[in-house]
Amino acid sequence: MSEENDTILEANSLYHVYDSKAEDGNVVALRGLHVKVRPGEAVAVVGPSGSGKSTLLKCLGGLMKPSAGKVSLQGENMTRLTGKELVLLRQKTISFIFQEGNLLPHLSALDNVAQPLRHQKVSPKDAKKQAMDLLTELGMGHRAKGLPATLSGGEQQRVAIARALITQPRLILADEPTGALDPITSREVLSLFKDLHEKKGVAFLIVTHSAEVAAFCDRSLELRDGRFVAQHGTDLEVDDLSESRELIVDDIGTVVFPPEILIEMGGAGRYEVGDVGDGRLTLISTDLGASMLDGGTTLALSCPACNHEYEDDEIQLCPDCGSSRPMV
Ligand SMILES: Nc1ncnc2c1ncn2[C@@H]1O[C@H](COP(=O)(O)OP(=O)(O)OP(=O)(O)O)[C@@H](O)[C@H]1O
Ligand SMILES: [Mg+2]
Repeated sequence: MSEENDTILEANSLYHVYDSKAEDGNVVALRGLHVKVRPGEAVAVVGPSGSGKSTLLKCLGGLMKPSAGKVSLQGENMTRLTGKELVLLRQKTISFIFQEGNLLPHLSALDNVAQPLRHQKVSPKDAKKQAMDLLTELGMGHRAKGLPATLSGGEQQRVAIARALITQPRLILADEPTGALDPITSREVLSLFKDLHEKKGVAFLIVTHSAEVAAFCDRSLELRDGRFVAQHGTDLEVDDLSESRELIVDDIGTVVFPPEILIEMGGAGRYEVGDVGDGRLTLISTDLGASMLDGGTTLALSCPACNHEYEDDEIQLCPDCGSSRPMV
């Protein structure tokens, strides 16, 4: 068992297909992803709406079984575990934080936070005491008796974080945790994450559209259409993903060029492979070019999803709905 020492979460060749009876058929949401998260590491997943971020998070956290591929948590192959074993492994290792809807509506803030401990056979009295201490630490002690519906969005998210932390997880999977919060509250949430990351060595995998959240992470993986297309360092500009980017080539040799790089190269078409070696590859466009293939070479003027009119020439993601800007 060496794997768990340097890896808390690992996924190989992860595929997910949603079956659909609709005319447009099945949706392939994940197309062969590899991910590795080391203990204490914070990794962001960025990418346009519909690129597969939530699907990935659910598959990684064992909330959904991927159509194919393997997910290991602390060296244990989750895809092989029985339902009960999976729940136990998850409970002692991972916590989830979603954009909203993290709390049970009929339980008070205190009981919401104490509840995960009950599953771990902590006595009700001890569970309540620990929950109260944690809520107090997060500045929510005075609202411990409130039901979720009576709390503000930011307060609810702080209670959700307390609920996520009460079991002392080694890994937090978060899907747009600050997405529903105002800038001040999201900064508070982020500073809580920073404390946990720096002082307690908790690992994070966070789906986000926020540049601040991405900057908190050690690296960001860029997902497009179910594939990782690039990895970025801490200086990621969410609005300008072309900065400081490394392209990712997967195990079967597929490399997906983000649209703006494709444009700079001269668009879709035929390329002759020039020099290969020493980690270098040269592609030389041949004259047969893009006209032979589908897809255009200029960015669309308006967003096909929400009709936002792009004013900026280079922006890649729709500022209104987050869709990736297609080429026409
Ligand atoms: N239950 C479902 N049934 C069928 N298709 C689905 C289902 N859930 C998601 N999809 C499709 O799978 C793809 C990926 O969806 P997913 O929710 O993972 O995207 P996302 O990156 O989280 O998007 P967003 O940023 O909008 O949250 C999309 O094309 C979506 O329409
Ligand atoms: Mg999502």
